[in-house]
Amino acid sequence: MGQQAIKKRQKKENRSVEKGWRTASTSDIHELYEQSVQEPEAECELIDQVWSELRGRKCVHVREDFCGTSAMSMAWIKHNPANTAIGVDLDASVLEWARKRIPERLTPEQADRLTLIEGDVRAAATDPVDSVCAMNFSYYLLRTRDELRDYFKIARSHLVDDGLFLLDAYGGSESFEEMEEDRHLDGFTYVWDQNSYDPISGEAVNYIHFRFPDGSKIEKAFEYHWRLWTLPEIREILIEAGFSDVVVYWEGSDEDGEGDGVWSRAERGEACEGWVSYLVAMK
Ligand SMILES: C[S@@+](CC[C@H](N)C(=O)[O-])C[C@H]1O[C@@H](n2cnc3c(N)ncnc32)[C@H](O)[C@@H]1O
Repeated sequence: MGQQAIKKRQKKENRSVEKGWRTASTSDIHELYEQSVQEPEAECELIDQVWSELRGRKCVHVREDFCGTSAMSMAWIKHNPANTAIGVDLDASVLEWARKRIPERLTPEQADRLTLIEGDVRAAATDPVDSVCAMNFSYYLLRTRDELRDYFKIARSHLVDDGLFLLDAYGGSESFEEMEEDRHLDGFTYVWDQNSYDPISGEAVNYIHFRFPDGSKIEKAFEYHWRLWTLPEIREILIEAGFSDVVVYWEGSDEDGEGDGVWSRAERGEACEGWVSYLVAMK
């Protein structure tokens, strides 16, 4: 498995410099975020895989909680002509960013299958969906068991009878360290800053910074105050919230020991320095 704390935040550094050098003043933090940490098409493939393996049917209707730029929702819409997506986020400005990009990212017919809702994921009422997804560890911002259980109950209530709740998790020995890692991407450097971790509360403060070849920077472009939940805790709380079972999908590794993007159901993981996994909670 990967050596770095957060594999999803370590997209390969082999991107070509397509747009020339960037600077802080010419850059858009949401675009840089998408380029740095998101792989929405891979998440759509994983949804197909888990539905095929666990339910033997296709997932069609998805609700993306904490959707941010709604990259996953838009990818889901494009993934299959029947698919629909609902994105929910508290932040009006990031939803506005997403809405402005709809004409360049989706056809009018595809756009009709996308709904973006400004609101708290715990309050936004929507029609039942096949899957609720909470990606990029967004639910780590719920820092007590009670808060997390309440959210999981609400996510469950949005599912159809055979619905699946998909969420990702990260961990490994390096995730508890105060450290920075950087990666050189398309004309900028992405910095993941695990700024502080308190072993008593389990709370971590993490930042994303962006730095540019001309020396300019965007410090604390994103800031996360998270509880570093462990997999057994998350599984237990999902069961307490009423899910009937929780399956962990663990990533395989290539000959160099790096994650190979192949996910399979597992009962045992590996004590590596950094891992990302997916949990699938069954209604
Ligand atoms: C880490 S970003 C995740 C973005 C995206 N899901 C991804 O995969 O990268 C977290 C997002 O959650 C939103 N958020 C935080 N608390 C929320 C809440 N209670 N309800 C809805 N959205 C919330 C923030 O506005 C932010 O856009």
